[in-house]
Amino acid sequence: MTKQSPLAAAVLACLSMAGPTQAEDLHIKVIAATCVNCHGQGGQSLGAVPSLAGQDVAYLQTAMLEQRSGVRETTVMRRYMNGYTDTEIAKLAEHFSRLK
Ligand code: HEC
Repeated sequence: MTKQSPLAAAVLACLSMAGPTQAEDLHIKVIAATCVNCHGQGGQSLGAVPSLAGQDVAYLQTAMLEQRSGVRETTVMRRYMNGYTDTEIAKLAEHFSRLK
């Protein structure tokens, strides 16, 4: 048997229990967790960075696509959006629009 850390085993167990949709949800939650450093916990910003929670889904999606293509001026967002596919951007928009 190959050596495996208990944590890796637990993660694998969770992933194998999760169906395709759950695995997809987890994937988006992991990405979304990186956004809240700047956009605030739950997408509710306390500072100058815009809040994402509860915004219109199409608004969020368009904003991110325009940031990625460079149509929209950004300081940091273009670099982030460059790393994401159209599907991930659509799902991130959905995720944050659902938060209140
Ligand atoms: C390093 C901080 C930082 C991180 C991390 C970050 N953002 Fe941003 N975000 C900003 C800033 C600052 C702006 C304003 C535009 C700019 O200057 O880039 C912005 C703007 C936006 C906007 C436009 C909102 C509006 O009302 O105009 C959206 C949508 C957005 N971010 C989504 C996300 C998502 C989704 C993630 C995670 C994948 C993310 N951001 C990660 C700092 C960040």
